[in-house]
Amino acid sequence: MEGYLLFIVAVVFLFSSSVNACDRCLHRSKAAYFSSASALSSGACAYGSMATGFFAGHIAAAMPSIYKDGAGCGACFQVRCNDPTLCTTKGTTVMVTDLNTSNHTDLVLSSRAFRAMAKPLAGADRALLRQGLVDIQYHRVPCDYGNRKMMNVRVEESSKKPNYLAIKLLYQGGQTEVVAIDIAQVGSSRWSYMTRSHGAVWVTDKVPTGALQFRFVVTAGYDGKVVWSQRVLPANWEAGRTYDAAVQITDIAQEGCDPCDDHIWN
Ligand SMILES: *[C@@H]1O[C@H](CO)[C@@H](O)[C@H](O)[C@H]1NC(C)=O
Ligand SMILES: *[C@@H]1O[C@H](CO)[C@@H](O)[C@H](O)[C@H]1NC(C)=O
Repeated sequence: MEGYLLFIVAVVFLFSSSVNACDRCLHRSKAAYFSSASALSSGACAYGSMATGFFAGHIAAAMPSIYKDGAGCGACFQVRCNDPTLCTTKGTTVMVTDLNTSNHTDLVLSSRAFRAMAKPLAGADRALLRQGLVDIQYHRVPCDYGNRKMMNVRVEESSKKPNYLAIKLLYQGGQTEVVAIDIAQVGSSRWSYMTRSHGAVWVTDKVPTGALQFRFVVTAGYDGKVVWSQRVLPANWEAGRTYDAAVQITDIAQEGCDPCDDHIWN
């Protein structure tokens, strides 16, 4: 019971510290691009070389208010450039895999994502690349992983049985942030808390034995909500492996934006 109360307090605290930004508002800013993909594969979210595989390499480094000390890792944004002769109204969708602190841009895209904002006209993508820095609009959208609909938990190489577990979430859908993660042995109600260590990585040095269930706390509506997966890691979980969480986050955080720009551009 005590643990549960602590959990609630932690959730309220974490929740209130992450709701001030308005990701779903329509933002007008500028975007640049990285000429080398390797810049993003060493991104602050710690997805490593896996990053360039997300969304066919349509990934981005975001400014601190989007990155949110790592809570923004894995968030998706639809981005379009403004020049009507070169840019489509649909633009492209990128996933945040890195932090960029340059104050000239809100987003620095992979060159693949940057080019994907161009119209399918001969030379339009190259003309866009030549501009380097372009005016954009963007808003947060759910991440759509197509057939791969469930969230995955990847056990990091730094994990060490029996006491240390480091994970990151992959294929996180929704339009909201995971603000807390708890784990317990399957069937037990003795939960322990994971803490966000850096980027998308969560850690704990209180690892229950046996197979593990997970509670993911997300911002949903104006509140927190728990997405519970009754079995995620088998008792013989291994570092370097990825496990299906068998749940997906479909929630949307209600933010203080009026109006929110909720429709997907096409
Ligand atoms: C931010 O992005 C720019 C490209 O626009 C890049 O030159 C710079 O190194 C990046 N800075 C950081 C701190 O990541
Ligand atoms: C951007 O950052 C640079 C160096 O950090 C600073 O000199 C400059 O004034 C900043 N520009 C704006 C518009 O804040």
